[in-house]
Amino acid sequence: MTFRTTLTAVAFAAACSAAALAAFQHDAHAQADATKPAAAGGKNDHGLDIVKNPYTDNAEAIAKGKDLFVSKACSGCHGAGGGGGMCPPVVNDTWVYGSDDTTLFNLVKLGSTGLQGKGYSRIGHENVVGDMPPFASIVTDDELWKMLAYVRSRYAGDPAAKNW
Ligand code: HEC
Repeated sequence: MTFRTTLTAVAFAAACSAAALAAFQHDAHAQADATKPAAAGGKNDHGLDIVKNPYTDNAEAIAKGKDLFVSKACSGCHGAGGGGGMCPPVVNDTWVYGSDDTTLFNLVKLGSTGLQGKGYSRIGHENVVGDMPPFASIVTDDELWKMLAYVRSRYAGDPAAKNW
């Protein structure tokens, strides 16, 4: 049973990587004009600049973020509405490394390996465990904040667990 679950997880991870590769190829001309992250000041426990999403609850940015979530291939792994697919859901209150803006912003930019390189380790476990690919060269910071504003708008977890 355990063995079978592991195999399934490996298959999911492989499928995830293939999708990521396709995203990289598709977006080879990715923009290099990343705007500066919205700095909130200070560093977190991992030495990362503490940043805050400037677009939380901004309807226009959320609508743009929804389109980006599809066009940048996030939905291919996380499901159209972020509810999970072959990769973990991004709308529940189980967060692999934490739920704050700084953690999510860096996870998407650096990928799982990059974030772990900053001293993070998995603290929450979703139905599927795999690596998130790095998107720093595929999306601008501005696009990323809009996508994360969309993800926040889809949040269906315990309201008391919100820290953004
Ligand atoms: C190749 C598949 C894949 C793609 C494409 C992908 N992700 Fe992920 N994502 C993952 C996996 C797998 C994890 C879990 C990471 C871990 O456990 O280390 C994850 C984790 C996350 C998390 C944290 C979820 C949690 O529960 O803690 C967020 C937020 C996220 N991804 C957003 C995005 C966004 C935004 C995009 C598009 C720019 C994107 N992802 C594209 C596979 C993917």
